[in-house]
Amino acid sequence: MTFRQLFDSVSSTYSYLLASRRGGEALIIDPVLEKVDRYIQLLKELDLRLIKAIDTHLHADHITGLPALRERTQCITIMGEQTKADVVSIRVSDGEHIDIEGVSLKVLYTPGHTDDSYSFLMPDRVFTGDTLLIRGTGRTDFQNGDPQAQYDSLFGKLLRLPDETLVYPAHDYKGDTVSTIGEERAFNPRLQVKSVDEYVELMNALHLPNPKMMDVAVPTNMRVGLAQNVVAEKGWALSAEQVRGFLGRPEITLIDLREDQERRKQGVIPGSLHVPYPRLETEFQEGGLLQQLAKDTGKGLVFYCAFGERSAMAVQAAQKAGLSTSRHMQGGLQAWKSIGGSLKRSN
Ligand SMILES: [Fe+2]
Repeated sequence: MTFRQLFDSVSSTYSYLLASRRGGEALIIDPVLEKVDRYIQLLKELDLRLIKAIDTHLHADHITGLPALRERTQCITIMGEQTKADVVSIRVSDGEHIDIEGVSLKVLYTPGHTDDSYSFLMPDRVFTGDTLLIRGTGRTDFQNGDPQAQYDSLFGKLLRLPDETLVYPAHDYKGDTVSTIGEERAFNPRLQVKSVDEYVELMNALHLPNPKMMDVAVPTNMRVGLAQNVVAEKGWALSAEQVRGFLGRPEITLIDLREDQERRKQGVIPGSLHVPYPRLETEFQEGGLLQQLAKDTGKGLVFYCAFGERSAMAVQAAQKAGLSTSRHMQGGLQAWKSIGGSLKRSN
């Protein structure tokens, strides 16, 4: 496995790059905007293709690299379903998985530092965001933080993991890089409490100053979605209503870019073909499924996904590949549901 712990010294943030092989797919957790050039260079050097960029929560101390990475690599952006970010490509919830080739992260909802805080678990390690830090825990005094919820996330979820599980946090201010669950249970001063009340009291007595970047970082990190109006201005977007009007018509093929997990959770638009977003590059090439479908049958391709972000990137790639009749459904399945569009169960 390729595993890189990358550090931003300005905000003391750790970002993590993961991949299972050279030449394969990669994901990044908690990327920092100012480091995006470095990540791109590293991806190139290691011959990796960035598929997913994930934030553990809405950060208050640095600006996220999610939108810049999406623009540079067309990767999928991911946050938890509670996020106040305007648009991310996928919103995950507790118990789901974030998969790329050879790497699977189990999604754990661990609120408390913020109400959108998540941890991501692998067999031997856990990425804890700001929920569990090395010999510390994330503050709980802003962004809907809640010391009681954090106590439950810590004692009810993270500390139940095997002792030897490696702990990789989103920050460290002392220079520590990694710990274990057993070590934190034994030596983390915040975890030496006898009750939830004692923990709440401890956290409420911290009275920390706000992060320097907070007033800039929070609003910026809430506006990370792709500008879908730019795609619409080119005439490449259809509203959910327009797509409904096309349903069942032979001249168009609807293409669902989502993953199996999302399809099972939300349902699918009847009659649509399934081509997961990461496969597009291959399918647009000469001899690829979509290239053939569009060229041989003359059908117009209409892409859709959860929120319209992957489909907006797909229609741009399709146009670039010469499929000039392709469109996407603006706003994705969220827009489709808002007009009461029909859905069937995915099998
Ligand atoms: Fe944080």
